[in-house]
Amino acid sequence: MSKLTAPRGTFDILPEQASVRAGIERSACELLEAAGYGRIETPSFEVTELFARGVGEATDIVQKEMYSFDDGGGRSLTLRPEGTAPVCRAYVDHGMHKLAAPVRLYYLSSFFRAERPQAGRYRQFWQLGAESLGSEDPAVDAETIVLLARILARLGVAGVRLRLASLGSPETRAEYRVDLARYLRANEQRLAPNVRERIELNPLRAFDSDDPATREVMEQAPRLLERLSADDAEHFSTVRELLGRAGIVYEIDPTLVRGLDYYTRTLFEFTSDALGAQSGVAGGGRYDGLVEQLGGPPTPGIGWAAGIERIMMASSGLRAEQVEVDLYLAFEAARADAFETLIQARDAGLAAQMELAGRSLKGQLKQAERLGARFFAVVEGDSVRLRDMHAGTEETVERGALVDRLVAA
Ligand code: HAM
Repeated sequence: MSKLTAPRGTFDILPEQASVRAGIERSACELLEAAGYGRIETPSFEVTELFARGVGEATDIVQKEMYSFDDGGGRSLTLRPEGTAPVCRAYVDHGMHKLAAPVRLYYLSSFFRAERPQAGRYRQFWQLGAESLGSEDPAVDAETIVLLARILARLGVAGVRLRLASLGSPETRAEYRVDLARYLRANEQRLAPNVRERIELNPLRAFDSDDPATREVMEQAPRLLERLSADDAEHFSTVRELLGRAGIVYEIDPTLVRGLDYYTRTLFEFTSDALGAQSGVAGGGRYDGLVEQLGGPPTPGIGWAAGIERIMMASSGLRAEQVEVDLYLAFEAARADAFETLIQARDAGLAAQMELAGRSLKGQLKQAERLGARFFAVVEGDSVRLRDMHAGTEETVERGALVDRLVAA
């Protein structure tokens, strides 16, 4: 029979990687919870309309990257491509606007996008995400950005850079889009075909193109950052001032575009020089209109998400944790006695293992060494030869007294 493999762009998480991930989760959750965030997990799939409305019909995600399917009853469902729209849906669903603002939620979940797989880009991937709902205070913007910077630093992500911009209000952006589209049409001949095709649909994406001629055109293109309303400009300048107070280094990038339509005002992206073409480790921004777009009351919000696989690729300091083994039970003939002692030891809270692969006594000792076991016990009926693997000493003890003794040790 031919061998079956995991679908393209997906991967298995093996025990050693699971251990690294658990370490990332622990570090990140600690910082998030200390900052007042509570964990939320939403379903892996949602009604398709959530993303069409939330993420935006014109985005690449909705246009071509969603895994959508019929639920059997004529309703279209979609494997979640991102977490912000689902969290806002849950916020409305559970009437969380009645809670004291800001409501702060974080998640560590897997997401699905039918993208072309390459290093750092998968079809199922994990994100750590944080959302803060109900406050438009620029201090929330600065605070969430600092929190993300601290998490990336704590996880040892190398060569981190932060790019920052502001998109202003939806109205400013709508006017700007019209002007940008006009500019692009005037320079149509010099644009890459895929940019030309999207002039009407999504002109801002032209800033993302890596085609040299297109980039040249974009250098002279009108900039949204120069057209912010007085309110938005003031908001942005306060965010910058507060980031300065926290000693955060950043670069203002007026060409920053992110592939989601819900953003308003503050927008940011963290990249890592340790990554290749897919250099984005984390990104986020404000989405002051999203909750209302999903049928909730007008509610400002801001958040970010960081890719777990990209964090792992950009950080050399993450190690699997060595699993501790207190006791390894060996035997030649007394399998049932060894088994009984194994269960007693585990019930008493010891990390215990017994021989299960028919090794010789010598092989069993080797296996105990491989596992880094603290004690090695050869069960011989009612007595046990107990070896302290650290001290190198050996003694004979009564089997019935072994567990109590080790627990006391
Ligand atoms: P995003 O920029 O699409 O934003 O994704 C955030 C991060 O997820 C990226 O920086 C990257 O590290 C990781 N990521 C995205 N796609 C893939 C992929 N195909 N393979 C591996 N990693 C990937 C969002 O998803 C927004 N929901 C972030 C946000 C939260 N904005 C406001 N709140």
